[in-house]
Amino acid sequence: MDLFIIQGGTRLGGVARVHGSKNAALPIMAASILTDAPLTLTNIPDLADIRSMLALLDRLGVSMSANLASSRLTLQADDPSSFIAPYDLVRKMRASICVLGPLLAKRKKAIVSLPGGCAIGHRPIDLHLKGLAALGVDLRIERGYVIAQAEHLTGTTIDLAGPNGTTVTGTCNLLCAATLAKGTTVLTSAAREPEVIDLGELLIKMGAKIEGLGTSTLTIHGVTELGAATHEVIPDRIEAATLLIAGAITGGEVTLETVRADHLTSVVDALTRMGCTVQKTHRSMTIRTFEKLSPIDLATGPYPAFPTDVQAQLMALATLAPGKSRIVETVFPDRFMHVSELVRLGAQIEQHGNTAIINGCRPMNGAPLMASDLRASAALILAALASQGETVLRRIYHLDRGYQRLDETLNQLGAKITRVADVPENLPEESIPGSDLLAGPHWLTKPAGVSESAEGRTSL
Ligand code: EPU
Repeated sequence: MDLFIIQGGTRLGGVARVHGSKNAALPIMAASILTDAPLTLTNIPDLADIRSMLALLDRLGVSMSANLASSRLTLQADDPSSFIAPYDLVRKMRASICVLGPLLAKRKKAIVSLPGGCAIGHRPIDLHLKGLAALGVDLRIERGYVIAQAEHLTGTTIDLAGPNGTTVTGTCNLLCAATLAKGTTVLTSAAREPEVIDLGELLIKMGAKIEGLGTSTLTIHGVTELGAATHEVIPDRIEAATLLIAGAITGGEVTLETVRADHLTSVVDALTRMGCTVQKTHRSMTIRTFEKLSPIDLATGPYPAFPTDVQAQLMALATLAPGKSRIVETVFPDRFMHVSELVRLGAQIEQHGNTAIINGCRPMNGAPLMASDLRASAALILAALASQGETVLRRIYHLDRGYQRLDETLNQLGAKITRVADVPENLPEESIPGSDLLAGPHWLTKPAGVSESAEGRTSL
């Protein structure tokens, strides 16, 4: 396991390239199960989650030629005999659930492990299952697995509204399932995320008949067969937003290339309200921060509202804005694991239910931190860049699941982030760089009356 040592206080500047979208690539890769013809995919990011999906597809009889160094992948489902997605593969990544719809559409049966718990809160799949049952799938949950089969799928109308809005991967699953169903399926309250549109565009290239992409009503006229396609995955809007905030939080000037500004409207709106200037061209964006930041009041929501996947990063920025910011998390109401770690850097944040109140502009100082999930990791790196001194961030495997070498991208922009192997359990911590910070607060002046005992413990 690696950790990061981050030296804060550097203004970032320069040009960075945005990689392909993780959350678009994963359901698109799962869609390879829908045909026995080859899918050629480009702009695939080189990420742990992509490798997890490749391992699962391999288990499901999809042969592959992968060159992730050049972001290219060819997938061909030439062995349709397998339909089991085991816990061991699914537990590594929730998006594994995206194979459920394609398996049922093409192979008419699926045994897929339930994805299980997650650091960002409870994540049920009841809407996926409700939709599949409406299409005619006979399903039950047994010993942690969804066990499902159908003689054929039949189109119908399915409403995907849940208590916290629609479902992104649920829409992907049902979109895939409906492409090969008999008759017409109408999905209402469907997700409008760019990643869903990207999947829909791939399916159309494969021969699917889909209307309404980008709206909350999708109409799918079932076809009997899907075929080969070549598709370039969209740029990752969450990586782009993270890099824009990296520019803003360090008071720098960062230009992003290969980015889709039209996918980032709510993010640009929030950053502009906070006092940043964002210039856009067809495929590039530049952020500058000239003045003091302003506090922000916003709520996350399904696209086109502000993305939950950028909530933690924006909170890191809000810690620098004088005054009170308020961030309401409506998609994953418990997604606040980063709060206590930001507080360790010196931020003042109160959490009340699904709302965080940030009292901005307090000086932040580097500290030892622990990453809890993918986007929280990104937020802690951003906050560390804006802090004085050194931060040691552990458990960055969360970050590597969804950002392609974010440390290298930030270092190209002038950040000072060193990736080192974390100390194995049986080695002394002094053997790694940054151990000073992990070992204890020797830099603190001891309060009167406190002395070190012979064993090195503090006695009062
Ligand atoms: N929900 C239900 N029932 C369901 C499905 C979802 O109640 O059957 C609820 C969830 O608990 C949540 C809300 O609906 O409160 C939205 O969940 P959704 O299903 O849309 O999330 P997801 O599809 O599991 C995707 C992304 C997430 C992103 C969310 C929201 C992928 C692989 N994952 O998850 O990305 O946060 O949509 O935009 O596309 C990330 O990349 O860090 C990440 C977590």
